[in-house]
Amino acid sequence: MVDIHCHLIYGVDDGAASFDVSETMLADAARQGITDIIATPHYREGMFPYDVDTVLNNYYRVSETAERLGLRLFLGCEYHADYDMLGNLRNKRVATLAGSNYVLVEFSYTSSYINVHNKINELISEGYIPVIAHAERYGIFQKDPGLLMQFREMGAYVQLNADSILGTDGGTIRRTCKKILKEDLADIVASDSHDMKERRNRMYECRKLLEKKLGNANANRLFENVPRMIIRSANEDYRRYSS
Ligand SMILES: [Fe+2]
Repeated sequence: MVDIHCHLIYGVDDGAASFDVSETMLADAARQGITDIIATPHYREGMFPYDVDTVLNNYYRVSETAERLGLRLFLGCEYHADYDMLGNLRNKRVATLAGSNYVLVEFSYTSSYINVHNKINELISEGYIPVIAHAERYGIFQKDPGLLMQFREMGAYVQLNADSILGTDGGTIRRTCKKILKEDLADIVASDSHDMKERRNRMYECRKLLEKKLGNANANRLFENVPRMIIRSANEDYRRYSS
């Protein structure tokens, strides 16, 4: 499995609180059969600064443990949409997903349709591919999951949290996931893990559930094929630009 959304880099946001927790989270991911991880510290203006020096320093330290465990660890960012998103991406103030053109973007839970639409449009018109983080958490999609179809037709991807599907985040969120999955509007399931307690990685458990509900091929698409395609696309871009 490939996990493209998690907060296992310590000391940079509300995720792992120490290097030890980062290490335990990596070992837990490996045990679950996860082979590739994109660590996505929050960037949210005024709340989570995504200080590049600290992020890189702690990422490199954690990467050594990942390598020892046979995991591939990439860097990304969970970007809380704001007015300067394009500027921050262009000047590499924040990372895209593993250096690809894909950007993990989150919104306020009460964001309006027009606000989400404008931000998605902005990213796409500049050549980025938005991945909507935990789409099940936003009021507009809880009310009308079908709206996700429009954003996917624009070129965006839809990510759901394993926890949300399993129901640990409450009934409304679980039911929204169910509808999104039933209408085949999801592209990726990720952990959004923050710690080894309430917000730990539950991808294995979620995958087993979805294998039962949706079949192996669908589960594979959500947990493996689509997220791996993001990492591959970064490598392809790299090859193209370096040859
Ligand atoms: Fe997150």
